[in-house]
Amino acid sequence: MGIMDKHDKVERSATLLLILSFIVVTVGGLVEIIPLFWLDNTIEKVKGMRPYTPLELAGRNIYVREGCYLCHSQMIRPFRDEVERYGHYSLAAESMYDHGFQWGSKRTGPDLARVGGRYSDKWHRQHLIDPRSVVPESVMPGYPFLAKTELKFDDISDHLKALRMLGVPYTDEMIQNAKADLVAQATGEETDGLIKRYGKEVFGSATEVKARDFDGNPKKITEMDALIAYLQMLGTLVDFKTFDESNVENLR
Ligand code: HEC
Repeated sequence: MGIMDKHDKVERSATLLLILSFIVVTVGGLVEIIPLFWLDNTIEKVKGMRPYTPLELAGRNIYVREGCYLCHSQMIRPFRDEVERYGHYSLAAESMYDHGFQWGSKRTGPDLARVGGRYSDKWHRQHLIDPRSVVPESVMPGYPFLAKTELKFDDISDHLKALRMLGVPYTDEMIQNAKADLVAQATGEETDGLIKRYGKEVFGSATEVKARDFDGNPKKITEMDALIAYLQMLGTLVDFKTFDESNVENLR
């Protein structure tokens, strides 16, 4: 019997075809999956990454609560049109402290991965209160209530604690001082502790922590303060002027 006759047999028996197909797919799958178990980490280490400050984290929680991700992605793909519009493509490490990630899959509005520092706080404030007052053709909804709603942050330490359980390197000191650090960043006053704790990069030299009154109302710490603090740091941690792909420390 030639090999073609045997093949004929496999094609005529559904059960045999199913069993043999299953074996082939299993072997293929294992070849792809098993090597991953020998890697400690698939995210390359990059200089500049640090965990979110308490105020930025509160802002991020509002971003998630309001569903901004339904219209905005936070992942610049390595294609020329995207890189020319938004800046350096996103690195895996840039979302390593995001639980869950905000990559998104829908762009009704632009990608926000590098929006930090692109506009003034005042622009963000005006845009979030009434998008069409600054971009007449905008279809983004307004969020005027954020400027009026005082930020609730009594439980901010617990947010840091929960993230630490997921592997974000918050120290005991950061957790204990979370409330004070939040107030310091939203007011720009008594920021020594905040800068000591977050100004130092996790992996190396120093980065700036932006501390000021973000919402233009120094009397209150509002949800607007937190959201703008978050938007203004997006994509700013890694310095791409000094970033060199060949220097990325690969943990593989
Ligand atoms: C219904 C879809 C939609 C939702 C929801 C939405 N946006 Fe937008 N957003 C847009 C569109 C469209 C634009 C572009 C026009 C403009 O600038 O208003 C935009 C623009 C922006 C910009 C300016 C980006 C740039 O590079 O010019 C920022 C910042 C922004 N949105 C933040 C937010 C935040 C924060 C939220 C949640 C509180 C949010 N958006 C919710 C649609 C949306």
